[in-house]
Amino acid sequence: MNKKLLVFNWKSAPATVDAAIKLAKAVESGIPKKNAPEIVIAPPFLFIEEVGKFVKKTKLGSQDVFWKNIGPYTGEISLRQEKNLKVKYVIIGHSERRRILGETDTMINKKVLATLKAGLKVILCVGEPKRELGIKNYELKIKKAKNYVKNQLKKDLRGIHNSLFKIHNSLIIAYEPVWAIGTGHSDSPEDAVEMIKFIKKTLNSRVLYGGSVNSKNIKNFVKYKEVDGFLIGGASLKPKEIKNIIKSI
Ligand code: PGA
Repeated sequence: MNKKLLVFNWKSAPATVDAAIKLAKAVESGIPKKNAPEIVIAPPFLFIEEVGKFVKKTKLGSQDVFWKNIGPYTGEISLRQEKNLKVKYVIIGHSERRRILGETDTMINKKVLATLKAGLKVILCVGEPKRELGIKNYELKIKKAKNYVKNQLKKDLRGIHNSLFKIHNSLIIAYEPVWAIGTGHSDSPEDAVEMIKFIKKTLNSRVLYGGSVNSKNIKNFVKYKEVDGFLIGGASLKPKEIKNIIKSI
């Protein structure tokens, strides 16, 4: 059985490289000698190189990538550059990029394909945008969310065959219901597991849960074997939370 995977997504924080190094040290010092989970830190691009000098037990991740290696693409970061910085995991299709920056499924599909071909691991984020509170019928509510996610996966993974990621275990899905991200209201573990099982029916990949995970509610998810790990934003910026989260895995 795989170890649980913890991905710390620092988004656009902290403000300085020193603060980023301090956080990275907090992660490293919280890792136990035995039965440690697999941990990935995804700092802002600016800090990847410096943070990389201080991490030994954790792997580096990036929060995005561009699909072309060479060429005039102002502001973009290439896979070649990320590989040179020893980035091993790439978060793709985060809902903040889809929603705020207008990233489309076509763009996400290109990124996934290029990243897998380059031999890096992909953490593809999917999740329905709204909690359908108006729908009283539970089955219908879940069905709507499943259809949304199924459609995202179909588009984002177009042309990507099992053989490309199966052997290296290199495609990871992060199920992150958008309404649960950064709101302090995580999904219920039961509903998240229902969705994770649904994803696993069609894809032979690890599936993480993300959305307002913290050191308190993580215990309710950890007990489900279907949950292969977590993508954590806000709580991954607090040293005490980091330690307690690692401890509860
Ligand atoms: P959150 O973010 O833990 O702050 O909800 C999760 C994410 O955006 O990946």
